[in-house]
Amino acid sequence: MKKITKEQAFEILEEYGTPPHVIRHCEAVSRVAYKVGLKMQEKGVNVDPELAMIAGLLHDMARVHDDHQTVAADWLRERGYDELADIIAVHMTYSSFNDIEKSTETDLVCLGDRVCIEGEYVGIEKRFEYIINKAARNAPQHIQFIRSKEYQMKSYIREIEKYIGITLDELMAEDKKTEKQEYKR
Ligand SMILES: [Fe+2]
Repeated sequence: MKKITKEQAFEILEEYGTPPHVIRHCEAVSRVAYKVGLKMQEKGVNVDPELAMIAGLLHDMARVHDDHQTVAADWLRERGYDELADIIAVHMTYSSFNDIEKSTETDLVCLGDRVCIEGEYVGIEKRFEYIINKAARNAPQHIQFIRSKEYQMKSYIREIEKYIGITLDELMAEDKKTEKQEYKR
């Protein structure tokens, strides 16, 4: 299976013409996926934090297009990056998160995507507040459904936090402090 380094992922984003604000979002998601992945790996979960990081970096590379997850997945598959394509293809509709011990890179990227607003980790509370406010303006008939997702997502995150022994808020606050040294281009 062909692998991509972080540097190559950034090159791809540039080459593809992904707008800077989308790249910032991808970075934020990628950081959550990587950090939670590392913690899970420490606890013995068979998951690849690096792969989750790269998939996070590329998950919205084609966001300017309709059906962007399929456009990105096809682009990556054509170049032999099937593993990344598989993760990215499902990120918009993914909801069947695995049990924590059986977590996959897809779980990690989709988790990251659900706790960020644009280029920032904000946590599950704020993210849902944002979605519900948006729905209240545009599609109030969806609010009940969103609330049920919120409930599911919150209990999933509570389970992860118990498992890895740190809250996502704490983990990402720690990460922010060390961001400059260890991750940035
Ligand atoms: Fe995203």
